[in-house]
Amino acid sequence: MKRAKPLDSKPLTARQVTSRGLGAGAPRLEAAGPFGNGPISALPNANLTSENKQVAVRIGDLFLQNPVLTASGTFDPFTYAELVDLNRLGALVLKGLTLQPVLGNKPPRIAETPAGLLNSIGFQNPGLEGLLRDILPRLKDVTVPIIANISGDTEEEYEELASRLNHLPEVAALEVNISCPNVARGGMVFGTDPEVAFSVVSRVRRVYHKTLIVKLSPNVTDIAAIARRVEAAGADAVSLINTLLGMAIDVRTRRPRLGNVTGGLSGPAIRPVAVRMVWQVARAVRIPIIGMGGITSAEDALEFLLAGARAVGVGAANLVDPRATMEIIEGLERFLEEEGIKDINELVGAVRV
Ligand SMILES: Cc1cc2nc3c(=O)[nH]c(=O)nc-3n(C[C@H](O)[C@H](O)[C@H](O)COP(=O)(O)O)c2cc1C
Repeated sequence: MKRAKPLDSKPLTARQVTSRGLGAGAPRLEAAGPFGNGPISALPNANLTSENKQVAVRIGDLFLQNPVLTASGTFDPFTYAELVDLNRLGALVLKGLTLQPVLGNKPPRIAETPAGLLNSIGFQNPGLEGLLRDILPRLKDVTVPIIANISGDTEEEYEELASRLNHLPEVAALEVNISCPNVARGGMVFGTDPEVAFSVVSRVRRVYHKTLIVKLSPNVTDIAAIARRVEAAGADAVSLINTLLGMAIDVRTRRPRLGNVTGGLSGPAIRPVAVRMVWQVARAVRIPIIGMGGITSAEDALEFLLAGARAVGVGAANLVDPRATMEIIEGLERFLEEEGIKDINELVGAVRV
């Protein structure tokens, strides 16, 4: 297979997104209300840092200085390092990785929708060798945990990738994306059947001895049932949600807007679905949850914490505002200050139902 260039798949560069946003007519994926999205220097509490606020959380063996992670595939650390202090993040989650390089789906790979975006990147990535050669050496100054996100066509592939990553000191934890088609089962997605999910996570668990996070698919009837089996298989945490399967059609050409026909929907459109799923999973498992889906502001992140998430991932919002994670961290610190809350962990699952 022709080798793909590393981190080639990002649809827009940081400069493009800041100047273009999501285009005319697209929703403003900006913070609203009291958690406004201005530059950090303009905030009243600009001198607050994670060290003097109680925003640290624990996920498995990871101690995170704050609960804000990048969501896999939405944050190019090399481009964004010019605009974001990577060492202010709770953790840096890398783009999905497979054992061998993957060139990805045919274009177009991104389509804007009324409150988010559809993507069908198709797991484009440089493979394990590319990670070792081109990516990890360039992240050597990152002091926050680096989390690898892995995908595979078969259980064997997940297992081999996990076992090889287990020996890498640069990778602090693994996020296993089970929203991938299982070739041995005719393309049925690993994460849509509780027993298939149990099986692949068990195999990864046997060979991976650091923190193991399993990323759940929302394209299921009962996400709590999947989460329970993933916990039973030995996961240290679950992250949710991955994108919701969607489709958009250009009525003039009568063609699908994505080259792949269908794709994954992310952004504010999916937030209520994601919050509901986090709430359901929080009642079903004891392991920590990393919540994500449409988070654009500190207020959005707080919704996830109250629903039961211990940490959050920020995805599509990075494509609109590369500094979204920084503004969310600041907003969380300010919220604690304003509400007189000593420890952010007090908010986890504190929704009054
Ligand atoms: C362009 C793009 C690429 C993505 N790539 C991955 C990936 O490689 N692995 C993965 O587990 N999730 C991937 N995701 C899903 C996100 O990590 C996240 O779960 C999802 O988009 C929901 O969060 P959001 O609404 O904040 O974007 C991708 C999402 C987008 C928009």
